[in-house]
Amino acid sequence: KSVEKGSFTWSSPSNIALVKYWGKKADQIPENPSISFTLDACKTTTTLSFSKKNSSSDFSFDVFLDDEKKDDFKPKIKTFFKRIERYVPFLKDYHFKIETSNTFPHSSGIASSASGMSALALCLMSIKRELNPDMPNDYFHQKASFLARLGSGSACRSIEGDLVVWGRHVEIDGSSDLYGIKYPYEVHPNFENYQDTILLVDKGEKQVSSTVGHNLMHGHPFAEQRFGQAHSNLSKLIDVFKTGDLNAFIQIVESEALSLHAMMMTSMPYFILMKPNTLKIINKIWEFRQDTGLHVSFTLDAGANVHVLYPANEAESVLEFIKNELVAYCQNGHYICDKIGFGAKQL
Ligand code: PMV
Repeated sequence: KSVEKGSFTWSSPSNIALVKYWGKKADQIPENPSISFTLDACKTTTTLSFSKKNSSSDFSFDVFLDDEKKDDFKPKIKTFFKRIERYVPFLKDYHFKIETSNTFPHSSGIASSASGMSALALCLMSIKRELNPDMPNDYFHQKASFLARLGSGSACRSIEGDLVVWGRHVEIDGSSDLYGIKYPYEVHPNFENYQDTILLVDKGEKQVSSTVGHNLMHGHPFAEQRFGQAHSNLSKLIDVFKTGDLNAFIQIVESEALSLHAMMMTSMPYFILMKPNTLKIINKIWEFRQDTGLHVSFTLDAGANVHVLYPANEAESVLEFIKNELVAYCQNGHYICDKIGFGAKQL
């Protein structure tokens, strides 16, 4: 089938890893499996318009963020197109207009690569489906995740919800290094509607990109132990999700966050992405948990911002604590209330 022109719009969320992906092999193959909560409020909406062009010699596209032309986004997208060309062979046949916007501020320090790359991958799969109309739904999602992975590893965990596993793990049927899958086992109601309040400690550009960080795991003195730890933490989480043991959940998730940053601090060259306020917040959370017995915990991405995680039925008290005690450590008092979400949507 041949299609002259058209456009597709997808809205795709960000995600927050509980067991972290840090370290990769060639072709964006992760060194260890990871699992994440899909988010709900933090998302990217992308419209991909396409029209057939005469010559198919090179990629041709323009990128707009909030209606503003963004030529500085082009190299990243060109790299992505090169990586996926063999799977979406029509890429050079069209001129593309990529119009994108995020629900969170661009300079918030929240990475838009997971939501952005997954939204773009989904738009491209929609074109592929237009050309192959009998494509089954499962194939569509799996291939979208596969393509998203080649844009940004963690992006492959943003297609579906609410818990997504990426990377082969012996105890998780269907898990693959090539794409994310919806977590296939029982999840206790304690995790329903789980909350994630993101405290924006530092909105500046990261000093070290995650690409550089992943690469520093090659030859890292603790690499093998770290990859083993991720496997074992994911094993433990299977049981935790089944039983709803929130204390065990907290221990695994916080340890994962600190282990991720420990890898950064022990690589060569070493670096620190946490800021003084990151540590102040962590200590406040520990104090509050000790005093109240509530199940509030933290996790971190590759940056200074803190994700505060807590069950829905404790939201009232925890939010009050966040507003009274933690927001003071945020840059310009900025934070985002998010929660577990259910994946991308076509608009
Ligand atoms: O998707 P990338 O290459 O930007 O890597 C992200 C890695 C972490 O956010 C630090 C952890 C994760 O699993 O999302």
